[in-house]
Amino acid sequence: MKKQYEPMFDTFTFKRGVTVPNRIMMAPMTNFASKENGEVSEEELEYYRVRSNGPGTVITAVAYVTRGGKGFSHEIGADNDQLIPGLARLASTIKDQGAKVILQIFHGGRMCPPEELLDGQPISASAVAPLREGAVTPRELDHLEIEGIISDFGEATRRAIEAGFDGVEIHGANTYLIQQFFSPHSNRRGDEWGGSLEKRMRFPFAVIDSVKKAVDQHAKNPFVIGYRISPEEMENPGIKMEDTLAFVDQLAEADLDYLHISVQDFWSGSMRDKEDKESRIVLIQNKVGARVPVIGVGSLHTPDEVMKAFDTGIPFVALGRELIMEPNWVKKVQEEKEASIRQTLTKNDQKELVVPDYLWNAIMNSPGWFPVEEN
Ligand SMILES: Cc1cc2nc3c(=O)[nH]c(=O)nc-3n(C[C@H](O)[C@H](O)[C@H](O)COP(=O)(O)O)c2cc1C
Repeated sequence: MKKQYEPMFDTFTFKRGVTVPNRIMMAPMTNFASKENGEVSEEELEYYRVRSNGPGTVITAVAYVTRGGKGFSHEIGADNDQLIPGLARLASTIKDQGAKVILQIFHGGRMCPPEELLDGQPISASAVAPLREGAVTPRELDHLEIEGIISDFGEATRRAIEAGFDGVEIHGANTYLIQQFFSPHSNRRGDEWGGSLEKRMRFPFAVIDSVKKAVDQHAKNPFVIGYRISPEEMENPGIKMEDTLAFVDQLAEADLDYLHISVQDFWSGSMRDKEDKESRIVLIQNKVGARVPVIGVGSLHTPDEVMKAFDTGIPFVALGRELIMEPNWVKKVQEEKEASIRQTLTKNDQKELVVPDYLWNAIMNSPGWFPVEEN
């Protein structure tokens, strides 16, 4: 590989003892290819197999921890023990290619499409509908239900351990249930789960504790606990950067293996204040310093762009769409073939790139999401 890219291939050992061979991760990406019952499918395994020989770590598509938190059609499930053999195949398919594998886990909360739920009723911290056309108003959770979901995160973690994963990533980002508890838009509670900023952090930290307990109890090998956040929300009231900086300050002390920042563009400034152009990731990195490793992500297409992101001091970069368009992105850097990294798609590439049908159609039918060339 070219000398300037060598730092990308430094190994790293996380707090809980997992060592990864390089600093590139596959970002979590839903692929809509699991079976109706949440079981991993052959199509999905093949999609991962061709992408796992290169990135040091693969973070999987998000899996629901309980059936009432299913957020997508054909989403992978981690909500019952019958799914463990399929999860084990997913873990071993990825590990056989050389990457470490982390299962992303969540509850969709008020973002769950009613048609994906058995009772058609999404739930959330409070009965406030998301601001989008046609959104249903969720039902407010009671205390016992909240405790149940917290323990569901622990149970999903146990399943990930039994299935042979190297870690879990708690999905506290992208407007799903954990974020809904942190957000003053979706959380209007006046009990111990809401009200002040501190109380809005209570659910996220309870989930982290539940996951930690499962790891302490069940993991026989080193096992990573990561956490993903979104820095801001558009809504008013909504999560502001100052809330997030207070939150990450506490997350940095929560004994996590990493903190993953979910944004569309690594360099983008505030979504609330167009004048504030500082990268949200850089602000968070500056706040947490060396206390917890930060993963940056977002529209980093070329190895030079990735190296520029590393120059800010963040230890990891995750690649999402880049690895859909170029499964061999990392290998090509290693082999000095970076000039041939694909950065666009044509409508004929599905088979060659091994992309499941539904995901492929979603990509083709969502203008602007991926750069699709006319051929
Ligand atoms: C097809 C697709 C599915 C995604 N699904 C998830 C997901 O399940 N969980 C998650 O945290 N982020 C998800 N994301 C967001 C990505 O992890 C990533 O943050 C985003 O795509 C920006 O990175 P990129 O520019 O490298 O693609 C998804 C993105 C894409 C393109």
